[in-house]
Amino acid sequence: MQIVYWSSTGNTEKIAELIKKGVIESGKEANTITVSDVNIDEFLKEDILVLGCSAMGDETLEESEFEPFIEQISNKISGKKVALFGSYGWGDGQWMRDFEERILGYGCTLIDTPLIVQNTPDDDDQQCIDLGKKIALT
Ligand SMILES: Cc1cc2nc3c(=O)[nH]c(=O)nc-3n(C[C@H](O)[C@H](O)[C@H](O)COP(=O)(O)O)c2cc1C
Repeated sequence: MQIVYWSSTGNTEKIAELIKKGVIESGKEANTITVSDVNIDEFLKEDILVLGCSAMGDETLEESEFEPFIEQISNKISGKKVALFGSYGWGDGQWMRDFEERILGYGCTLIDTPLIVQNTPDDDDQQCIDLGKKIALT
């Protein structure tokens, strides 16, 4: 499975790597890939979509790469199982509540509550690894 993310300073990337670790520990395959490198046709073949983006702007998704990507896939992902994650700084997670609501509005179901981490996750952050395990068992 592909773990697709956008990250400015590496915090969301680190969450993605920990999720990947959890998936692999559960015996499944996973790759992390930045949103700018994703082949959309290949990505849309997946039943499970794992998507991460940090809080940017004023509680928004990143606007030049991640937001257009979500817009582009929005009418093609109904019925998919989705896991969401991302890092934030000073807010209260509003960007992720909005992202969750959008994804549900596109007809997807969520594998778990969106995973948000303030700033940088710990090297062995268990909740990130556990999300990977849960995704692997889905
Ligand atoms: C331009 C910019 C806008 C940001 N906007 C928000 C925000 O609205 N809410 C928030 O909680 N954090 C905000 N942050 C903080 C980042 O979400 C935080 O630093 C996060 O850890 C970055 O993760 P990343 O390295 O994966 O991009 C912003 C940071 C920058 C640089």
